[in-house]
Amino acid sequence: MRDGLLDEFVERVRAESDLLTVVSSYVSMKRKGNRYWGCCPFHHENTPSFSVVPDQGFFYCFGCHAGGNVFKFISLIENVSYFEAVKIQAEKLNIPMPQRKKSEVEIIKDQKIADLQKIHEMAGDFFYNCLMKTSYGIPAKEYLFSRGIHEDIISEFRLGYAPDAWDKLSMAFLKRGIKQEFLVESGLAAQRRNSQGAYDRFRNRVMIPIADERGHVVGFGGRVLGEGQPKYLNSPETVIFNKRRLLFGLDRSHQAIRQAGYAIVVEGYMDAISVYSAGVRNVVASLGTAFTSEQCKKLLRYAPEIYFSYDSDEAGQNATLRALSVVRETGAIVKVLVVPDGKDPDEFIRRHGVDAFRALVKAALPLMEYRMQYVLKHVEHSSLEGKVKALNALLPVLAELRNAVEIHAYVVRIAQVLGIDEGAVRSEMRRFSQHGSSAGEPMRASIRQVVRQKDDAVRRAGRIIIKAAWQDTDVLMHLKSVVPIEQFPNKLHVEILRFLEKQEMCGVLPDDITAAEELSEEAASELSRALVEDSDGQEVTEAYEDSVTSLRKVYLQKLFDEHSQKADELSRGGDSGYKQELAESQRIKDEMDAL
Ligand code: UTP
Ligand code: MN
Repeated sequence: MRDGLLDEFVERVRAESDLLTVVSSYVSMKRKGNRYWGCCPFHHENTPSFSVVPDQGFFYCFGCHAGGNVFKFISLIENVSYFEAVKIQAEKLNIPMPQRKKSEVEIIKDQKIADLQKIHEMAGDFFYNCLMKTSYGIPAKEYLFSRGIHEDIISEFRLGYAPDAWDKLSMAFLKRGIKQEFLVESGLAAQRRNSQGAYDRFRNRVMIPIADERGHVVGFGGRVLGEGQPKYLNSPETVIFNKRRLLFGLDRSHQAIRQAGYAIVVEGYMDAISVYSAGVRNVVASLGTAFTSEQCKKLLRYAPEIYFSYDSDEAGQNATLRALSVVRETGAIVKVLVVPDGKDPDEFIRRHGVDAFRALVKAALPLMEYRMQYVLKHVEHSSLEGKVKALNALLPVLAELRNAVEIHAYVVRIAQVLGIDEGAVRSEMRRFSQHGSSAGEPMRASIRQVVRQKDDAVRRAGRIIIKAAWQDTDVLMHLKSVVPIEQFPNKLHVEILRFLEKQEMCGVLPDDITAAEELSEEAASELSRALVEDSDGQEVTEAYEDSVTSLRKVYLQKLFDEHSQKADELSRGGDSGYKQELAESQRIKDEMDAL
């Protein structure tokens, strides 16, 4: 349910906010025509592609596609939720926040989250004190020291120790008034099977607090001192602890990731701690599970590139390849950091020092290069059979490459090292692209490039139309008579236009606040881009007409294909109805030619 008072509040804060002023307090902006440009604070760059058009109230980065209104900007740069951004801005402007009534369910959920955060905070303190201030923490401290982890790192990461007893934490917390069910619900304790009461989940382990992006402790990883199984015991999933979404260390490293322009992803908690403490701060660890697309998207909010530094053993290599395929779909740029002699980053740094690690980062390999080195090292490729096997292992990555020059260079190299004909590599690549993988129908890279350019032009036309419709919703009437909204080739555009249509039907002007509320993240970013983008010096109306015409062509082409195909099917089946379909497709063709 929308809350009128709250809406009024948000609108007032929005009306009194000046995007350019807010942006300028973080980024130095230079005016050019009716827009301002600066270096994007959300990804690393040296030439400005971050733009604000003050009248529109939107920002957009042509490099990393971050975009939105003033609240979106604050939420990205301060790493807070959209609504928290509203509150921050309200405080700055001295606008009092109305007391909103929450629903019963909301109240209960918020309370649960607050309670879980609180108990994890308390547990963090408990474990920390056990490690640092008690005599039974000494063996744990010694274990950490033996791994090169000293007091400064212990307090930076607030590492702790869970005592070697069944209920030290449970007893202490029960005494402080925490209910047993809640202890169990939080995952810090487990229910006894055959009797009443609960016992501590973590016993005799070094405790590593895992925090969300904002720094709230939401779970723990507990390591045995030395050998033992399981090596790490982790908190179970709760409302605040979701392993697919969390990245260990992100609360500390997100600024550094933004500044560096890339994140380094390692496998282990200890790797992240080592790398970070050695001074390379743009590092996170995936939580022992496979790297997920949620984690990938999260990192992409800070930087467009991801470097994987997984263990160099067989399992690590496989994990790397799996992670790479997750990332590839999101469009992130990927590199692989190869740590020599089967070491993990933690061991490597301890043995060779941080400068050697920085050198590895610098020498990180592009995906194709990494795959080539791996295959050549692990696949016997002197026999004919071996050559075929090696080539097959390379084709999936090769077929993903976008740049023709790059493809050529790799084809030549592959032919050389495998001692086969370049033509053979090319034709295998073609075959793979046409029939190869089962996932969708991968196109050949060169074809794909042409398709992409055409898509870009169509998408741009869509944005110009959106801009015109945003400025004057009457445009929609005309638009719908020429190209039905559902027929827009880009589904983000369909989403935005439907939204505009809805606003128009309700008789209200579209505004950035409602847009941010109702549109998906991607659509909101696309909308910002449409509003900030220049129409190459053309007047909006003129640009609009050209764009509508080109989208009409795309639409007609689709209709033409449908009718021709139908005609074809009918005539094969001896159905005379094909004549009508043929006539219709001819009519469409005539219109296309006349456009
Ligand atoms: P590793 O076995 O590579 O751990 O597991 P590591 O970080 O090198 O551990 P150390 O150096 O021996 O202390 C990588 C990650 O997988 C998860 C943890 O997140 C760990 O950091 N893991 C591993 C578990 O959750 N449980 C396990 O039993 C083992
Ligand atoms: Mn390790």
